[in-house]
Amino acid sequence: MKDIKFYKLLVFVNALVPLVLLGWDWRGGRLGANPLDFLTRTTGTLTLVFLVLTLAVTPLRKLTGANWLVRLRRMLGLYAFFYGALHLLCYVWFDKAFGLGAIAEDVARRRFILVGVLALTSMVPLAVTSTDKMIRRLGGKRWQKLHRLAYLSAVAGVVHYYLLVKSDTRKPLAFAAVVALLLGYRAYVAYAKGSAPLSLKTQPPPR
Ligand code: HEM
Repeated sequence: MKDIKFYKLLVFVNALVPLVLLGWDWRGGRLGANPLDFLTRTTGTLTLVFLVLTLAVTPLRKLTGANWLVRLRRMLGLYAFFYGALHLLCYVWFDKAFGLGAIAEDVARRRFILVGVLALTSMVPLAVTSTDKMIRRLGGKRWQKLHRLAYLSAVAGVVHYYLLVKSDTRKPLAFAAVVALLLGYRAYVAYAKGSAPLSLKTQPPPR
């Protein structure tokens, strides 16, 4: 795939579009009656969307033979982390005004916050080890194992979403179905190969 640089640029620019639109609408006062809640919720949704896109790369690549897709995966994953960090910032800033005591109390008291923290913290090692240097340092096998944390993060993200909605569970359930499909595909491939689930493959990106 000769034009991979172009595709990377395309993904990079497009993934920033929601952020630019959010900033634009925020300045223009077009985020509805509760703009801060809108920002928190939208960055949460974006985190989950980018996690799902990241997890979709391997099945798509295998089903279509478009191996170059793997070269977009790191950027998609880093965008998931980026929007997750913004989501956390929205919560810490708008919801809690940087009050550490109130945050600690919230984590202890509200289950969906605790699960959100789990979803985000399991992304940290993924982001930290996403560089070529870290992949080399860890070695392919260990890197693959570590990057299965993305599965935990996606599942925790969906549970977080499900727990926080009050009545209409359609959207979290739709995300749950997509995540189940993407993880189910991996489990099926591992099963079909006759290997234990531990060998679910997540290959390090080619350089
Ligand atoms: C430190 C970690 C996190 C905290 C403290 C946190 C907190 C919150 C809060 C306060 C809300 C708004 C709830 C409401 O308005 O009732 C929310 C919504 C949401 N969060 Fe998180 N979250 C965290 C991590 C994550 C992660 C990692 C994901 C995705 C993988 C995520 C996905 C979502 C989604 C999808 C929503 C709902 C969006 C909607 O209502 O449309 N959150 N989160």
